[in-house]
Amino acid sequence: MPSAPRTPSVREQFERLLGRACAIVARAPGRVNLIGEHTDYNDGFVFPMALEHCTWVAAAPRSDGQVRAVATDLPDDRSWPVADWPRERLPHWTAYVAGVAALLRARAPRFGGADVLVTSTVPVGSGLSSSAALEVSTAAALAALADVTLAPTELADLARRAEHEYAGVPCGIMDQYISVLGQAGAALLLDCRSRTWEHVPLALPGHTVVIVNSGVRHKLASGEYAARQQQCQAAVAHFRRLRPEVRALRDVTPAEVAAEAARLDATVAARARHVVTENERTQAAAAALRRGNLTEFGRLMCASHASLRDDYQVSCRELDLLVEIIGAVSGVRGVRMTGGGFGGCVVALAETDSVSHIEAALRERYEAAGNGPAALILSRPGAGAAVEYRG
Ligand code: GLA
Repeated sequence: MPSAPRTPSVREQFERLLGRACAIVARAPGRVNLIGEHTDYNDGFVFPMALEHCTWVAAAPRSDGQVRAVATDLPDDRSWPVADWPRERLPHWTAYVAGVAALLRARAPRFGGADVLVTSTVPVGSGLSSSAALEVSTAAALAALADVTLAPTELADLARRAEHEYAGVPCGIMDQYISVLGQAGAALLLDCRSRTWEHVPLALPGHTVVIVNSGVRHKLASGEYAARQQQCQAAVAHFRRLRPEVRALRDVTPAEVAAEAARLDATVAARARHVVTENERTQAAAAALRRGNLTEFGRLMCASHASLRDDYQVSCRELDLLVEIIGAVSGVRGVRMTGGGFGGCVVALAETDSVSHIEAALRERYEAAGNGPAALILSRPGAGAAVEYRG
C-alpha cells in the first residue's frame, strides 16, 4: 500500500468530517523487525525495516485548548482539554493522541489544541507497530502545527513517552525510532544504547520479505512484557555483582551466561541466554546482508525464532505453526516471529517465486487445521515519518 497517493484523500476526509480545511498532513510507517527481538530494552541491537503501510494524521490548529480527534474507521468524534485527558471516558486509541498533544504542549506552551483526523493502513494489534505509527504521525503533525522543530530522536522519544505515560506500555525504543528513521530500500541497524544507527541496504535479488499475520491479537500491555523486563533486570543484578561495570545484558557475553547458568534461577538464565545470543545474531545478520549472504541471514532468523520460543517463551502455538509451515516451503531462507510476541506476525525471507507456494501451504496446513485466515502482508522497506502537506 504505497503512501504517496493518500494525502489528497486524507485532506478531503478531514474537511468532510471536521468541517474545515486541514493545515498539516503527516505520515508515519509501521514496521517489521527482521531480527533483534526483546533486545532494545536491554541496551542491545535491533534490525527493523519501516513498512509502506502507514498512519496519516491531518491537523488544524485550535485556540481553545481542546483536542478534537476523529478516526476514519470509528464513528464518534472525541474532544478533551489538551491538558486534561479524561482517560476513562475515551477509547484507547485516543491515549496516543492525548499523550503526544500533552507532551507537545509542555514543550511548546503556545500550542493551543488541534482538530485531528487519523487514518491508517497499518494492521492494528498484529505486532507491526500501529501504535508507534499513530504516536509518531501525531507528533510530526502537531509539532509542525505548533511550529516546533524536533530532531529525529526527539520526535521518537516524545512518541515513546506518550506510549509509556498515557498508554501504559513500557516499550523499548525500537518502534518509534524505526518509524522516524526508516529509509526506503534499507533496514535500520540501531544500537539502542548509544542511539546511533546505520541504514543497511536491503538488496534482496530474487527475494521478498513476506509477513504473515497469525490472526491472533498480541497483548503487549499484558504483564508478560513487563515480566520479561524484570527477569532481564534480575540477570543484570547477578552479573553486576560479579562485574560492577555491567549496566545491561548488552554488557554480558553468551559464555558468561553459560558459566553462571547453574547459579541463576533457570528462567532468568534462559531469558538472559536469549538476549545475549540475539544481540550476536542481530549484528551477524546485518553483516551477512552487507555481504549479500541471504542464506546466512535466513539461518539467523530461524535461530532467533527458536530462542524466542524456547528461552524467552514469547511465542505461541499459532506462531510456531506458521514458522513450521513456512519454513518447510522450498525457497524460504528463514522465518521467525516478529514483534513482542504472543500473537501477531511472522516474517520470512523467501525467494519471490515461492510466495504462491507459501500461500498454498498456509491454506492447506494453517487454515484447514481450524486456524483463522493467515493474511499475507507484502511491503518493501518504506520511508520514515514526514510532513506531506502544509496548507
Ligand atoms: C514491542 C516493543 C519494542 C520491542 C519489541 C520486542 O514491539 O514495543 O520496544 O521491545 O516488542 O522486540
